[in-house]
Amino acid sequence: MTAPETDTTTAQWDAEALRERALASLTRARDRTTLLTTCVDGPELTAQHSPLMSPLVWDLAHIGNQEELWLLRNVGGREAMRPEIDSLYDAFEHPRAERPSLPLLPPAEARRYAAEVRGRALDLLAGADFHGTRLTEAGFAFGMIAQHEQQHDETMLITHQLRTGPAVLTAPDPEPGPPFTGPAEVLIPGGPFTMGTSGEPWALDNERPAHVREVASFRIDTTPVTNGAYQAFIEDGGYDTERWWAPEGWAHIRRHGITAPLFWRRDGDRWLRRRFGTTEAVPPDEPVLHVCWYEADAYARWAGRRLPTEAEWEKAARHDPATGRTRRYPWGDADPAPHHANLGQRHLGPAPAGSYPAGESPHGVRQLIGDVWEWTASDFLPYPGFRAFPYKEYSEVFFGPEYKVLRGGSFAVDPVACRGTFRNWDYPIRRQIFSGFRTARSEDV
Ligand code: AVJ
Ligand code: FE
Repeated sequence: MTAPETDTTTAQWDAEALRERALASLTRARDRTTLLTTCVDGPELTAQHSPLMSPLVWDLAHIGNQEELWLLRNVGGREAMRPEIDSLYDAFEHPRAERPSLPLLPPAEARRYAAEVRGRALDLLAGADFHGTRLTEAGFAFGMIAQHEQQHDETMLITHQLRTGPAVLTAPDPEPGPPFTGPAEVLIPGGPFTMGTSGEPWALDNERPAHVREVASFRIDTTPVTNGAYQAFIEDGGYDTERWWAPEGWAHIRRHGITAPLFWRRDGDRWLRRRFGTTEAVPPDEPVLHVCWYEADAYARWAGRRLPTEAEWEKAARHDPATGRTRRYPWGDADPAPHHANLGQRHLGPAPAGSYPAGESPHGVRQLIGDVWEWTASDFLPYPGFRAFPYKEYSEVFFGPEYKVLRGGSFAVDPVACRGTFRNWDYPIRRQIFSGFRTARSEDV
């Protein structure tokens, strides 16, 4: 069976349904932003909790500033509300470590600014022409801005995880389901499939265009790698055995004395972890979290396996072998619902490996969407036919071998910013992000 040349997703969309969706997505994002920036007091908002992160109050005003730039100025043709603050909130002018020393808007002012922008943006949304320019076609700019705010809501949740001090965020843990009894891996037969998308209305530039990829047969884990499995790697001396590590990874863990995932601490013969201000035993059945690409790569080599490539990951997540069609999500084309995946900060951690049977792919691969971002073997590169849109600084300036691709989204990602095609990227040493992985192997090994 050959793959169709383009994806079949939402070639026809309904402007009024998308307008509703934009309103709901922007509102959900702002509710989350409000929670993440009111659960601590002023000094905690202006402090820098890690050199890797901005002060929370920077994220708040940056969210408002990007919304003002794209919706009010570019779509709406309005004048800048406060041109003097633009440079403060330009992520490319000031690296994160520098942001606390800038004359940032204090919390109350940042909140007022973001709220004022939002009020005007919603007025604009109500009358916007969804058959207009490329920026407004299908409500793209509104969808992009909702995704942008949700991406920063994940960033702010990472900042909360890095903060020390008592717990301020709480959420119920996922309901435990029946233990997973399926196979550890499945075969994805070789052949072409359509990767990426051309028809998904709010897909970002790096997900485009849809194109056919040939992917040889491979086997992939049916669930993410668990804490228990990762502990076996640790107990087997994984962090002391150079041959499992990429050379730069080995140098990195030696230099920094890394011997376990971030936030883990040994306590006698067991492992504890810190999670949003609470210290608890590491649960063996949950996907491992807070590992860098080098740790994922070393574990896979120790296990006699490797990380899946990005194309393998997407084929496992989207290819329907019965029809040859590429789906929007592992479970089909329906938008994510709570029974499909652990998304949207409903929980403050991943569900046990093998959860969400309703979200599995046709091949029986689980938790591809939600729970933990999954490191892939691949560098972050453009697809054939890529065009930067609407600005080079979203994706294009990051293409190249310094960044590795992560797929699938974590428990901290909102459904609006998570798709079978969605691509995330980071440096291979980063592990403050909600990152885990699954492994693969070529069929003939
Ligand atoms: C796609 C998560 C790598 O946080 O740097 C936010 C998202 N881009 N504002 C990031 C983003 C601009 C981006 N990542
Ligand atoms: Fe941003």
